[in-house]
Amino acid sequence: MLAQSRRNFIKAAGAAALVGTAAKKVDAIENEILIVGVACSPRKGKTTAASVQAALDTAKSVDSKITVELIDLGGRDISGWKPPVEGQNVGDDFDLILPSFKAPNLGGIIIGTPVYFRNMSSLCAAFLERLSVMRQPVLQLANKAVGALSVGAYRNGGQELAIQQIQTAMLCHEAMIVGGKSGAFQGATLWNDGSDDITKDAFGMTSAKNLGMRVAEAALTLKG
Ligand SMILES: Cc1cc2nc3c(=O)[nH]c(=O)nc-3n(C[C@H](O)[C@H](O)[C@H](O)COP(=O)(O)O)c2cc1C
Repeated sequence: MLAQSRRNFIKAAGAAALVGTAAKKVDAIENEILIVGVACSPRKGKTTAASVQAALDTAKSVDSKITVELIDLGGRDISGWKPPVEGQNVGDDFDLILPSFKAPNLGGIIIGTPVYFRNMSSLCAAFLERLSVMRQPVLQLANKAVGALSVGAYRNGGQELAIQQIQTAMLCHEAMIVGGKSGAFQGATLWNDGSDDITKDAFGMTSAKNLGMRVAEAALTLKG
């Protein structure tokens, strides 16, 4: 083979291999079901994030098709909804996390909040308000499995009230709201005893795992 033809052949083979790899990647992603967990504590990496991660780990173990992503809102700048100004984005960190919710293989979302005065955190409320962009021009989160968890400093500190607020907001997306498996029917309720080590709350950790399992099962069912 002439040197020039040989170079062209190698280039073409390289390009074909690249196309093949990209196609394989697209195939792999299409066969995956993504479950995104969102931790809505301003304290990055603390008990809410650890609880959502525990739920995601269990979700992932349910089926090899399931892939998971944790989005920790701690330290991120996310404001509540503002009236749109023509040609301008709000321009905060919400833009950075939005692509995960637009992923074509999104199957479910697990939303975790700390309990603040028996309600969700203002960061969680801001996130949910901004998620309203997913309602336009069509309800893009319709039929996605959505479950919630909350962490309080008291055993009965308002965890279920905070979960209910999240579920109510997500009904506005026609999302499929799910609780957890038995023992966590409303969602996962966790207790931080002040040590910031949520693994010490055996009951709460089990409820987080039961939530992850149920969201995964529902996502698999809904994706057919
Ligand atoms: C402003 C504020 C209000 C709180 N209100 C409650 C409450 O009503 N009930 C409760 O159980 N814990 C309450 N807590 C405690 C947090 O829910 C708890 O520390 C939780 O672990 C925080 O989550 P994080 O570790 O992910 O930051 C409150 C904490 C703050 C800062």
